[in-house]
Parts: sequence; structure tokens; C-alpha cells
Amino acid sequence: MNRRQFLALGAVATGTFAVGGLSRLASRAASAQGAAAPTVDRLVLTNVVDNIYDVFAKGGKLDTVTVERTPLNVQSPLLAEHGLAYHLESLRGDERRQILLDFSLTDLNLFNNYRSLKLDPLAADALIISHGHADHYGALPALARVGEGRFKPGITLYAGGEDTFCQRMVITSGGTVDQGRLDGGALEGRGVKVVLAKQPTVVAGHAFTSGQIARTTDFEKPPAAARLVAGPMDSACSATHFGPTQVQTTPGELVADNFSGEHATVYHVKGRGLVVITSCGHAGVINSVRQAQKATGIDKVHAIVGGFHLAPAPDDVVAKTVAAFKTIAPDYIIPMHCTGINTIMAVHREMPARLIMPSTGTRVIFGA
Ligand SMILES: [Fe+2]
Repeated sequence: MNRRQFLALGAVATGTFAVGGLSRLASRAASAQGAAAPTVDRLVLTNVVDNIYDVFAKGGKLDTVTVERTPLNVQSPLLAEHGLAYHLESLRGDERRQILLDFSLTDLNLFNNYRSLKLDPLAADALIISHGHADHYGALPALARVGEGRFKPGITLYAGGEDTFCQRMVITSGGTVDQGRLDGGALEGRGVKVVLAKQPTVVAGHAFTSGQIARTTDFEKPPAAARLVAGPMDSACSATHFGPTQVQTTPGELVADNFSGEHATVYHVKGRGLVVITSCGHAGVINSVRQAQKATGIDKVHAIVGGFHLAPAPDDVVAKTVAAFKTIAPDYIIPMHCTGINTIMAVHREMPARLIMPSTGTRVIFGA
């Protein structure tokens, strides 16, 4: 896919939600959001909330990036939790944009860390939600409440599909975890416009989303434990939206979750290449990178960032993923959140110079 094709795929749909009850989606074609994949001079990626906060994590200038850590502040400490949130600040010339990607699990941690990092989430130019799990959307309803009338006019949340707003479950040996449901109608009621970006879509003129991610590898499968709660057949959560094999379900039935609406966030940093942020990576980190390359026609990957969801993966999947990393040859790999120690150790062993260890409060500065 070349840049012209990216333009052709720039169309998005806006969601209309009934407030209360199951989301019902009336998609309509909207104007193309983007021209070609945009390029930025600089990207400052701040890991606002992650699973760990490591005061001893090493920072400093590497070959082509700078890693800044947030030292311990006893009066205003950072809080880590099982969740992920990013603040993304980019520059192109004098033009500055701020995008919030994912919103951790609890507003306690998200608000605390934004305050501690001296970043203002209400100054955002756009919002992106990667998928509908609570450890990514958890604090978004509270943020929308606080931001009502205070966010920039027309503030927009980019989601990858209807399923972002369906109820999710995870079946574990220890029991069922109810991931809840992000209420799109309630967000719109607070003045946050919701856009379904199923195709690659430019966000705030600087970033772009991957669109729904083609599954091209044979070793990356959706987590077997993940379930989606089916809604009525004519609803946004009907199984017709979950994938080609799920067509007949009864409301309330738990169906296998293939994360059809999960998308990645991507920047093209001038002179460096793509920075691909997978968030939780249920669609597969390699699939996500390949999708970003295909959508832009840009092969050079500068960094792969995010949760890669390989914590429960068997050794052979980890080995195949690391082999694919070597083929892609990114300059840096930043394995956060749900990546798992098995994969971090494998990257450390096989590609030690590429590894940047994650920690809540870390700023990575890409570009000039
Ligand atoms: Fe996650």
C-alpha cells in the first residue's frame, strides 16, 4: 500500500450511541481525516502509567533517542498498576500536538501521575483508545467527566471498532474477570466525539492509527482466555462485528474475542522511521508492525513500543516473535505492560542494544 492508497483509506465513521443500555451504532461515512501519513520532527512519548515503576531504571542518551526517567518524588510519587496510559507530544516545525493514548485502569493512578509529571491531560488535541479492556479505558469516563466543557472544542476519541464498546470478559483458572464496558454514549454525552477508525486514519495531523489489523502471521493468535459478551443481533455488539466465523449468538452469550477493533498508534519521525505503539498487542505485535508498514509504504521501523501481550505465550511463540523483530530490525524495542519477562529476556539476549526497559514516568524522545 502506498501513500495514495493511505489517502484512499482515510475515511472514518462516527459512532452514534444510545445513552444507556447496549451501544447501538449508526455508522456513517465521514470525510477523510488525512492526506498521506504525516511526518513529525520530534515525538516525546511519556509512559504515564505502566505496570512497574523502577527508580533504578537507566536513562540517558542512546544512539538516536534520549531516555529520561522520573526520579522518586516522595511528596508526589508516581503510582504503577496493571494498566497503560501514554502522553504523546509531537512537533513539526512550530506546530505542537498532544495526544492521549489509553487511560490506565483507575482514575486514582491516572490523575495522580498526570499531576506528578506536570502534564495537563485537558490540553489534549485528540484521544485514542486502543481496545476495550479496562486496564486501558478504565479512567477515561472520569477524565471525560472532569474534561466536560474544559477539553478543547471538538475533542475526539478514535477507536478501532464497535467492539471497543462491548463488554469483555477474561476466563482464567482463578475465575472470570469482568472487564466491564466502555460506554461510548456516556462519553458523547460529556462532549467527547467518538470516531470509529477502522482504516488507517490521521489523528490531529501528526499521528495515525493503523486501522484494523490484518492477521498475517501464523503464530500470533488472540488470547484464548478472552471473551466478548454478545449483544442483540442488530446491535453494535452483535457477533456479526466480531469476525467472519461468529454470526449466530444469543444476547449475553460469551464468544471468543478476536479483538477485531484493536488498533495501533503510529508516528513517522523524520529521518528515523516509524514508531509503532501496540498498546496491548492482542492483534499481534508483528501483525501490528506489518500493518503500519503496509498502510504507509514505509518499511523503516525506528521503534516498537507497547504491551506485546506475550506474558502467557509459550517459548516457541516468543522465539518466533523475536526472530520477526530481527527481520524488521527496529532501532529500539520498548516492551511494556503485558509483554512478559519471557520476551523481555529473549530481546535482552538476542538484541541487547535495542532494548529499552519500561518504567512508569519514562520519557523517550524520538527525532531531532
Ligand atoms: Fe492491557
